[in-house]
Amino acid sequence: MTGLPRVFVARRIPDEGLDPIIEACDLDLWDDDLPPPRPELLTRVAGCDGVLTLLTDRVDDEFLDAAGSGLKVVANYAVGFDNVDVAACARRGVAVGNTPGVLTETTADLAFALLMAAARRLPEGSRYVRDGQWKTWGPLLLLGPDVHGATIGIVGFGRIGQAVARRAQGFGMRILYHDVQELPAGVTDPFGASFRTLEGLLAESDFVSLHVNLSPVTRHLINATTLGWMKPTAVLVNTSRGPVVDQAALADALRSGRLWAAALDVTDPEPIPMDDPLVGLDNCLIVPHIASASRATRGKMAAMAAANLLAGVRGEPLPTPVLPA
Ligand code: DGY
Repeated sequence: MTGLPRVFVARRIPDEGLDPIIEACDLDLWDDDLPPPRPELLTRVAGCDGVLTLLTDRVDDEFLDAAGSGLKVVANYAVGFDNVDVAACARRGVAVGNTPGVLTETTADLAFALLMAAARRLPEGSRYVRDGQWKTWGPLLLLGPDVHGATIGIVGFGRIGQAVARRAQGFGMRILYHDVQELPAGVTDPFGASFRTLEGLLAESDFVSLHVNLSPVTRHLINATTLGWMKPTAVLVNTSRGPVVDQAALADALRSGRLWAAALDVTDPEPIPMDDPLVGLDNCLIVPHIASASRATRGKMAAMAAANLLAGVRGEPLPTPVLPA
């Protein structure tokens, strides 16, 4: 017994977060590349004052029962919190924190990198060279659409959606957005962004980039019907959450030529099984949920999650709380 608050940290995070926790808490760290298996997680959180979770750790009634009535805070190391049952935490007086803001620009960088890579077929080009297929310059080799001057449709015009719009402006793109409601001109005018219904946006856009939270409303927002509204020449980019896209419908659309290409940072499930039809498609670029993976940003996320954890175990207001809807 140290007299310090007991906390469980569900994975090794950058020192910017780990150091202050080590200093102030009795720390139990899951020091493995893979997440703790569910039974292990439930055992390790028992009797904790605070838990630092990752998006791979489900926080629900079972978790909260296992932790016990002493749990004060769940600090999620992510801006997304669809892994946390926030209402269940609120019912038990457990504070929830996330890491908004610090990963906005880094995530937008990756969304734009995916957009460019899919449009200009970079993974295919790289494979072509490595496979020894490059024999000459070819007028028809690996053609794709122009990014500059094209129309981008941004679904979810929050922090990250707007950061993608800033990048699109640099490429002279026409910017459309869709959100639950039309946003004030003060927000959209600096981007020259015009509101569209989802159908209107999908029908007009050459590139569609998804930036919505995962909720019952957005689950399978992109499905066979909505994919049918898109141009057959369009590129779909998803850096939000995998279940926002119905992957079976996406695979059909990509295979049949109903959609030109997709680029995904997130899948459903994660990791995507190797026998998922999307994995074998040349016009589907998939990377392993790395949108926030710059050294600086992951350090800032760690510091922020630690600040939430420490505030929570001390019974203080969290710097960046997630409030129940
Ligand atoms: C988040 O923070 O929600 C991302 O998906 C991981 O950085």
